[in-house]
Amino acid sequence: MIKACIFDLDGVIVDTAKYHFIAWRRLANHLGSDFSEEENEKLKGVSRMDSLNLILEWGGIQKTEKEKKELAELKNGWYREYILQMDPSEILDGVLPFLDHLARIGIRMAVGSSSKNAGTILDQVGLTHRFEAIIDGTKITRSKPNPQVFEMGAEAMGVSPSECIVFEDAEKGIDAAIAGGFFAVGVGKEENLGHAHYVIPNFIGVAFQDILKAIEGKTP
Ligand code: BG6
Ligand code: MG
Repeated sequence: MIKACIFDLDGVIVDTAKYHFIAWRRLANHLGSDFSEEENEKLKGVSRMDSLNLILEWGGIQKTEKEKKELAELKNGWYREYILQMDPSEILDGVLPFLDHLARIGIRMAVGSSSKNAGTILDQVGLTHRFEAIIDGTKITRSKPNPQVFEMGAEAMGVSPSECIVFEDAEKGIDAAIAGGFFAVGVGKEENLGHAHYVIPNFIGVAFQDILKAIEGKTP
C-alpha cells in the first residue's frame, strides 16, 4: 500500500537541470574544456563536488582540493544567478495538479534532493509549504546513488521505503531509490531511466491511479 511520494526537485518539479547544465558548461569552457548532453546525464542527481570531479576527469584536468572548492563556488554563483530569478511560473506543467490530487487523497509528500540550493528554489517557486519533509544536500552525508536522502525522507514521514514512490529524472536517483527498496518512477526519457519501475515523460495529464496500476505486483 502506497502512503507517500518523495520527489526529486531539479528536473522533476522545476527545470533547474537546464540551469545546472548551462552553469557547468560555462565552467568547463572557462577551463578550456567542454562536455556533451549525454555526459550531462551523469551529472544529474550527484552532488556538486562529485559533478565537478566528473567534469575535470572528462577534460583530463588536475586541480588541488583548494582549487576545486573555488571552482565549485564559481559555478554555484553562476547557477544562483539563474535560480534567484525563478518564480512559480517555472513549476513544470502538470506538477501542481498532481500534488493537489495527492493532497486530496491523503498521500504524504516529501522532497529528496542532492542540492544545497533546494530550499532557495522551493521558496522562489512558492512550494515549500506543500511538503511535509524537505531533505536536501545540506542534510545528507552521502549523495545519490546512495539511498540516504530518500531513507531520511521516509523516516521523517514515518513510512517505510516499500510504502513510498520516488519520482526522479536522474539515472543515479533511480539507482538510489531502488537500492533503498523504494518504488522508482522515472520522469523523462525511457532510454536513460529504463531501470525504473515505470517511466513517465512528465506530469502532464498523469493520473496517480495509473502509476499505482503500473507498479502493482512489482517488487520495490
Ligand atoms: C542535484 C542535481 O539535484 O543537485 C545535480 O541534479 C546537482 O545536477 C546537485 O549537482 C547539487 O546541487 P547544488 O545546488 O547543491 O550545487
Ligand atoms: Mg533531478
